[in-house]
Amino acid sequence: MSSVLVAGGAGYIGSHACQTLRDAGHDVVCYDDLSAGHREALLGGTFVEGDIRDVDLVRRTLRNHGVTAVMHFAALLSVPESVADPVGYYRNNVTGTLALLEAMVAESVGEFVFSSTAAVYGTPERMPMTEEHPTRPVNTYGETKHAIERALPHYERAYGLRAVSLRYFNASGADRAGRLGEAHDPETHLIPRALSAITGGPPLGIFGDDYPTPDGTCVRDFIHVTDLADAHVRALNWLDDGGASGSYNVGTGRGDSVQKVVETVEGVTGRPVPTTVGPRRTGDPSALVAASDRIQRELAWTPTHSGLREIVESAWHWHQSGWRGAAGGAA
Ligand SMILES: NC(=O)c1ccc[n+]([C@@H]2O[C@H](COP(=O)([O-])OP(=O)(O)OC[C@H]3O[C@@H](n4cnc5c(N)ncnc54)[C@H](O)[C@@H]3O)[C@@H](O)[C@H]2O)c1
Repeated sequence: MSSVLVAGGAGYIGSHACQTLRDAGHDVVCYDDLSAGHREALLGGTFVEGDIRDVDLVRRTLRNHGVTAVMHFAALLSVPESVADPVGYYRNNVTGTLALLEAMVAESVGEFVFSSTAAVYGTPERMPMTEEHPTRPVNTYGETKHAIERALPHYERAYGLRAVSLRYFNASGADRAGRLGEAHDPETHLIPRALSAITGGPPLGIFGDDYPTPDGTCVRDFIHVTDLADAHVRALNWLDDGGASGSYNVGTGRGDSVQKVVETVEGVTGRPVPTTVGPRRTGDPSALVAASDRIQRELAWTPTHSGLREIVESAWHWHQSGWRGAAGGAA
């Protein structure tokens, strides 16, 4: 089994990927600057605290641990923040990723699994969205991810570095054993905010209830973080077996509305979710649903935990543990 460096492995999705990799028998080196990650999410393996822009430290880490592949989760990921702070987003998500790739090239590490996003598509022209849908990001965050996707073929041509970019739709849920979960600070994602609203937090803000959807609220494709982590391990296996580089959607092909999520949270917890309804947010499409046929066909990946009820149950189980990323990164 190979040694895998997981950049951003102390964060939400990266920590689940580390766990799935360890369960599959891989040696894992988690590399994270803890700017948004949590020490408590480091459940084993090696941890190196550092910034991906520190090329020397990344190189030493790759070399000292015999790393043969990199999974890259380390990024800033708030859309509104990215629009307000392009300097910070380009510096971390583009310059940072290019530094990581530079270190990989210098150390002859040739396999890369990249956290991309549905935001690379921009305004949906058809639904569900296939990988052939035009990529025209409408915000800075999506642009930074798209810039890396566009850079990767150049690295392959020149250095032979092969890459799989996984375009996630809405990552959600928590480790089913309750060891890990979602703890962004501030938390902007729907399910943790709904759970917070029923446990003393502010009411859940719903942005628009007049969309052309069955109940008027936005429709999104929720993918369980455990299924997402599994997609990464399959992408790694694909590259290990000599598979070609490519971009893949990771979603279920099923859309659930914000209102449906609220009702599911109420059903799972037995408590009403306090909500407020405000105006639509600029740039929010009414629906975002993935066509995931390509990853199912080529990487033999199938979502098995992404029913909305199972997602909410796992998030609620973890939410009740009290491990929720208090300010300062202490979980
Ligand atoms: N959460 C989602 O719904 C979602 C959807 C699509 C794509 N993504 C992508 O998935 C990845 C992980 O998202 P997440 O929700 O786990 O976020 P997260 O903030 O929980 O995790 C990111 C991790 O990267 C670390 N990090 C950030 N910048 C770093 C740097 N310069 N050097 C070293 N470490 C650094 C942080 O400390 C954190 O532990 C991101 O690349 C994000 O763009 C997330």
